[in-house]
Amino acid sequence: MSYRINDAVEWVGKKDWDLRTFHGWEYSTHRGTSYNAYLVRDEKVALIDTVWKPYAAEFVANLKKVIDLDEIDYIIINHGEEDHSGALPELMREIPDKPIYCTKNCVKSLKGQYHQDWNFVEVKTGDRLSLGARDLIFIEARMLHWPDTMFTYMTRDNILFSNDAFGQHYASEFLYNDEVDQAELYQEALKYYANILTPFSRFVISKINEFASLNLPLDMICTSHGIIWRDKPMQIVEKYLEWAKDYQEDQITLLYDTMWHGTKYVADAIAAGIRQANPKVTVKLLNTGSTDKNDIITEVFKSKVVLVGSPTVNRTVLTSIAAILDMMKGLEFKNKKAAAFGTYGWGGEGVKIINEWLQACGMELFDEGLRINWKPDEEGISKCLELGRKAGELAKG
Ligand code: FEO
Repeated sequence: MSYRINDAVEWVGKKDWDLRTFHGWEYSTHRGTSYNAYLVRDEKVALIDTVWKPYAAEFVANLKKVIDLDEIDYIIINHGEEDHSGALPELMREIPDKPIYCTKNCVKSLKGQYHQDWNFVEVKTGDRLSLGARDLIFIEARMLHWPDTMFTYMTRDNILFSNDAFGQHYASEFLYNDEVDQAELYQEALKYYANILTPFSRFVISKINEFASLNLPLDMICTSHGIIWRDKPMQIVEKYLEWAKDYQEDQITLLYDTMWHGTKYVADAIAAGIRQANPKVTVKLLNTGSTDKNDIITEVFKSKVVLVGSPTVNRTVLTSIAAILDMMKGLEFKNKKAAAFGTYGWGGEGVKIINEWLQACGMELFDEGLRINWKPDEEGISKCLELGRKAGELAKG
């Protein structure tokens, strides 16, 4: 399957409707994904990116239906991760001498993964490759999201091939941003940013500013996942700038896991306290044992205040709480306030452990944390309400 984007560019990727986890088990893909590859025909022909390895044979077979592979002059690999480079071995068996244009780090990653000494051409920011009427301009985009990543900009049609940046794990029968449900599109774009790009936010800001300083007109952003931004493509660039600057909505999120509902009662009472102090703030209670972890991370990303609770079990916290705190630590959220809560029967170390994790996550503790022995009685409920009111007041700021 291929789709014509304009006179010169054809989409030759793969829509993966069935995919439900990506990066192993690290990223949930409720709406599948796509691996977008593009064929550019001018006096010279360039292929930009490929698809994930399981679809390599299908990709090469489809490519042969639209072009004689010998007519491809250049292969551009914007990023070496397997979802974009995975079809290279299959393709290079057919056209082994064709040059592969990519960054120095990408050469390292491709050699490391495929152990092939292909005809690599290392490029850096500002290098140009003429296709005839159009030039490809390469722009290194280190840490968006790997050290090997680059963007490829095409003159005349003013297209930025941005690879993962501005993408979404979103399979759709449509190709463009103006054709799909906007709520779905932005939900997936935000989830993608929160779960993949958050630790690299300062690189996002500097790369966008650097691209703006080049004064290149922008008519379309062709991502490597999900839909293409053709309608007001700057809208997603502006969103990225907003998300990169310690993004917050008017939201408080409570994350908890529970064994016999004691910690759940505490969470419910804290939420009631929040509503007493701040009826306007959005409050979300998420059970980490039953809620998708990437959806949780997206809600944390949106929050001003995060409260995390667990019972103490075997002198530690429940595994779903430990796992989500570990994810939060890696994502390095900024400008968020936090507190811990939990129940215990005997030891009660859980709150102290959560406090240590929250600090390791870079969050500012606004309370020493609330420990409730067994289940909250009347006095315990009033302590929960008090912590909730404190969080609610904090979120007004
Ligand atoms: Fe879509 Fe970083 O690979």
